[in-house]
Amino acid sequence: MPTLLRRLQRITPQQLRAFEAVARLRSVTAAARELHVSQPTVSVQLREIASALGEPLFETVGRRLRMTQAGELLQDTVDEVSGCWQRLEARLAEVQGLVRGRLRIAAVTTAEYFVPDLLGPFAHEHPGVDIELAVENRDRVVERLQRGQDDLAVMMLPPQDVPLEVVPFLDNPLVVIAGINHPLAGRRVVLSRLEAARWLMREPGSGTRMAAESHFAQVGFVPQIAMSLGSNEAIKHAVAAGLGLAVVSRLAVADRLDPAVSGAVAIIPVRGFPLRRRWSVVWRRDQPLSAAARGFIAYLQGTPGQPQKGQKRDGRTS
Ligand code: PGA
Repeated sequence: MPTLLRRLQRITPQQLRAFEAVARLRSVTAAARELHVSQPTVSVQLREIASALGEPLFETVGRRLRMTQAGELLQDTVDEVSGCWQRLEARLAEVQGLVRGRLRIAAVTTAEYFVPDLLGPFAHEHPGVDIELAVENRDRVVERLQRGQDDLAVMMLPPQDVPLEVVPFLDNPLVVIAGINHPLAGRRVVLSRLEAARWLMREPGSGTRMAAESHFAQVGFVPQIAMSLGSNEAIKHAVAAGLGLAVVSRLAVADRLDPAVSGAVAIIPVRGFPLRRRWSVVWRRDQPLSAAARGFIAYLQGTPGQPQKGQKRDGRTS
């Protein structure tokens, strides 16, 4: 009987592909369909891996397929191996002087007003880079960073508990907006005068909301929150309809895509505002950067070639 290591080394890429598909789809039938093979073929491939490991990969609980502990360990290995191949691809591209490969970026929702515009010229310059952009609120982007799902993230408030490099690259002033017909529209006011006003906030988990709340707490202001809304666009429409005041990124109201709404809201010059925040591009310090990611950081900084050193979360520069 060959040793365990020998048996593991005999597992073929086809068998691993079948395992990966079953693990993801939690169904042998669906995996077989996706891989264009018969269901017995997938079952045999799973059995062969299981016999190499000496452990079953899945168990059936009711009508559902659940991964066993051995299955989860194999899944971790498959993820690591696929990360290794991707890094090899990126390094080879570097050796060949090409920036190519996949570039996965997660951006917070406020960044959606400029990230797609930034991606255009970059994609044009680097046709070999396959870009995937996910737009989510801050909490979701933090989760993605924790899982190491993306090459880069663009956000205002990077989390403290993930080992990150942080390179600020663009100002993000946060302003107070009101409907154009609001009595305070265009008038200079102090925040305390807005205590009786109705405030519309982004959903919990939003970085904009977090920044607004921390400023309000710092100056001892207690807003009357009338409503929480799940997107900047919903906030703008509700403000335009006169439902209340809101704190948003200035870029969200300079949106040329929707002049009807932009024309219906006004920035109120409240003392202490705009809140001066910045967008940063961030990445996990414990994961190597691909050539495409490095190229994109350098492009954001407007400096062709290598990116400048990022700041570590403790404020040191790397
Ligand atoms: P968000 O974005 O309000 O869409 O979460 C702001 C940020 O976290 O930068």
